[in-house]
Amino acid sequence: MSEQRTLSIIKQDATARNVTGSINARFEQADLRIIAQKRICVTKEQAKKFYEIHREKAFYDSICEHMSSGPIVVQVLQGEDAVAKNREIMGATNPANAAIGTIRRDFGQSIEHNAVHGSDSEENAAIEIAFFFNSLELVG
Ligand code: CMP
Repeated sequence: MSEQRTLSIIKQDATARNVTGSINARFEQADLRIIAQKRICVTKEQAKKFYEIHREKAFYDSICEHMSSGPIVVQVLQGEDAVAKNREIMGATNPANAAIGTIRRDFGQSIEHNAVHGSDSEENAAIEIAFFFNSLELVG
């Protein structure tokens, strides 16, 4: 076990439904500390850059459209095994397959409108955090 940081995004479908605070409570209940957070709008071009790893996938254009369709909340979570812990409390990508009590099960509506994004590895977390934040904004 080690102290880690991970990038989390509360997606447009969740900000539109005004559940940012409810989702943040899930992180805090799991001992993940929100050490940076901002509500922003990204352009489709910026979303495409963020999701570049998925550029060959059939859903690439559609998720980039969704991510740029309204406000999102980008945040850095810190805690013991933050990457894996966040993925556990988020639940499966498709809310229909997510375990009871997970964020996506409770707040997601579809595989695309699945409420949250979380980094899938410590390496990608560092890249994704740097995409949205500079070091002065990380207040651990
Ligand atoms: P996220 O964790 O943000 O990473 C990529 C996103 O693409 C994922 O959550 C889903 O919202 C979306 N996604 C993954 N698979 C599919 C799919 N088969 N169809 C539509 N969207 C998908």
